Amino acid sequence: MSNSLSNLEAQLEALRHDGENAIAEADSLERLEELRLSYLGKKGQLSVILGMMGKLPPEEKPKIGAIANTVKEAIQTSLERQRTSLESVKIRAQLEAETLDVSMPGVFRPQGRVHPLNGIVDRALDIFVGLGYTVAQGPEMESDYYNFEALNTPPDHPARDMQDTFYLSDGNLLRTHTSSVQIRYMEADEPPVRVVAPGRVYRRDTVDATHSAVFHQIELLAIDEGLTFTDLKGTIKVFLQEMFGDLPIRFRASYFPFTEPSAEVDLQWNGRWLEVMGCGMVDPNVLKNVGYDPEVYTGFAAGFGVERFAMVLHQIDDIRRLYSSDLRFLQQI
Ligand code: DAH
Repeated sequence: MSNSLSNLEAQLEALRHDGENAIAEADSLERLEELRLSYLGKKGQLSVILGMMGKLPPEEKPKIGAIANTVKEAIQTSLERQRTSLESVKIRAQLEAETLDVSMPGVFRPQGRVHPLNGIVDRALDIFVGLGYTVAQGPEMESDYYNFEALNTPPDHPARDMQDTFYLSDGNLLRTHTSSVQIRYMEADEPPVRVVAPGRVYRRDTVDATHSAVFHQIELLAIDEGLTFTDLKGTIKVFLQEMFGDLPIRFRASYFPFTEPSAEVDLQWNGRWLEVMGCGMVDPNVLKNVGYDPEVYTGFAAGFGVERFAMVLHQIDDIRRLYSSDLRFLQQI
């Protein structure tokens, strides 16, 4: 029996030794829980040993029971110590992972910017909206009526030439100017009118440094009782000053079928006079075409090329750069 007693003692001692070693080496809380179950669980190693106690003579049971208790406490203490240490390691790792190093360089986020043409359109619209205008739009595929006829452009007018206009097989055409929006807007609305209409226009031009088959215009139209050429001049002057700064401007007599009188506006830029827009008082025939009474209403209109403005403002020497999407160029603006 004493053999069996010392055998049990030895087993308990070995259990404590193995247990403490294994616990000291546990590297995670999960592993620690596995060890707890393996040593102290209901079906764990300590229970197995205690199960063998039943065969001992009754006087020896308390002794083994006492040893078993010390072993159990020792293993529990080891488990506790290891748990505390593993938890603090875990918290430290977490804190380290979450620290914010304010001296680290930031993450580079490439930033887009507004294309120079859209930039001009945005600025121009802002200025006119500030003057009480609303923004209008019209289709890029137009009929001869809206692009020419209603704008008082007779069938034999040179602007209708096949050389200048893209005609479509169905008899329609690609609008050659945004002036067509004038007619569409006036047909649909009663005076007074104050609209500004940006958009793409098309011409059969050979592409070179100053010409493109597709470009952008902004159209201006104001109709009311008693509007005069002075109102036109004042409006254009304010607009150009907002756009280019306080530069000298001049109005030069010109001709457009849809305005009478007509003028072209020049701007003095770097010592040279540059033509920047066309304008005039809306021709009474145009008003009649949309059902406005020219005895009651007068008005003015103007149109200008967005590319032209962009080239002047940003000193661009070739219109094709505006369409090339070359970032080396675009990033300079
Ligand atoms: N539509 C003309 C063009 O494309 C520009 C223009 C001139 C527009 C005079 C107007 C205007 O509204 O009154 O060349």
